[in-house]
Amino acid sequence: MTDTRPVIAVIGGTGSQGSGLAMRWAKAGYPVVIGSRDSNRAQQSAIEIAATAPRNDNWGSVRGTDNLSAAAECEIAVLAVPHANQLNTLKPIANALKGKILIDVTAPLKPPKVSTVQLPEAGSAVIESQKMLGENVTVVAAFQNIAAQHLADPDHEIDCDVLVCANKKSAREVAITLANDAGMTAWHAGPLANAAAAEAMTSVLIFINRAHKIPGSGIRITGIPEVLED
Ligand SMILES: NC(=O)c1ccc[n+]([C@@H]2O[C@H](COP(=O)([O-])OP(=O)(O)OC[C@H]3O[C@@H](n4cnc5c(N)ncnc54)[C@H](OP(=O)(O)O)[C@@H]3O)[C@@H](O)[C@H]2O)c1
Repeated sequence: MTDTRPVIAVIGGTGSQGSGLAMRWAKAGYPVVIGSRDSNRAQQSAIEIAATAPRNDNWGSVRGTDNLSAAAECEIAVLAVPHANQLNTLKPIANALKGKILIDVTAPLKPPKVSTVQLPEAGSAVIESQKMLGENVTVVAAFQNIAAQHLADPDHEIDCDVLVCANKKSAREVAITLANDAGMTAWHAGPLANAAAAEAMTSVLIFINRAHKIPGSGIRITGIPEVLED
């Protein structure tokens, strides 16, 4: 099964968001490579991820290496690092990403006011990524509104939808399939420019979490005809 599924690299996959996504994809049968600035840390993280989701019949694989090797070896890359480190993480791996899809999870949070929307000058974090990488890399925005604690337990049902933005429909389809396989409902939410809404929503959700003492609030698309719900 694993040889028919694309290799996914999670750059910054040692962190809470990236490791949760990686674990869910490995559980769904994907070969996953954890990327880190430190390959030892990535290997350790891979061991911990494998222990979180014990192998089932569908299990793919998970291993760790440095960010550049992970980017070179994958077919689909996922970026899961803090916004302050987004572009300096992408720069050294840009060549290795040529011709590939990069799913960018970055929410542009600016400490200390992470519950206030502060979008970057370019309009959004993913627009910054796309500008830096150029048109040879197809950037997709997804997973900005999924709180990491919901990803961590492989059996936890995630009560939050994923908005997927990209300029190419085929690239959005790839991310929607990955979200579905990780146990989430995902929607075509338009071109990359629309990702500003999902990125801004992350700060709104953090505010709601704090104001209402919710561990990890989320969003749902409603009004769906029953025929589409099956
Ligand atoms: N956590 C959430 O609930 C959540 C929800 C929605 C969206 N997001 C977004 O997802 C992204 C990752 O979030 P996270 O909570 O997983 O972040 P994190 O745990 O703080 O960091 C993720 C990884 O980024 C790398 N990193 C940290 N500092 C770095 C630096 N100075 N330079 C280069 N790499 C560095 C580290 O990997 P190595 O040290 O191994 O290289 C780290 O394990 C963020 O953009 C965040 O806004 C997070």
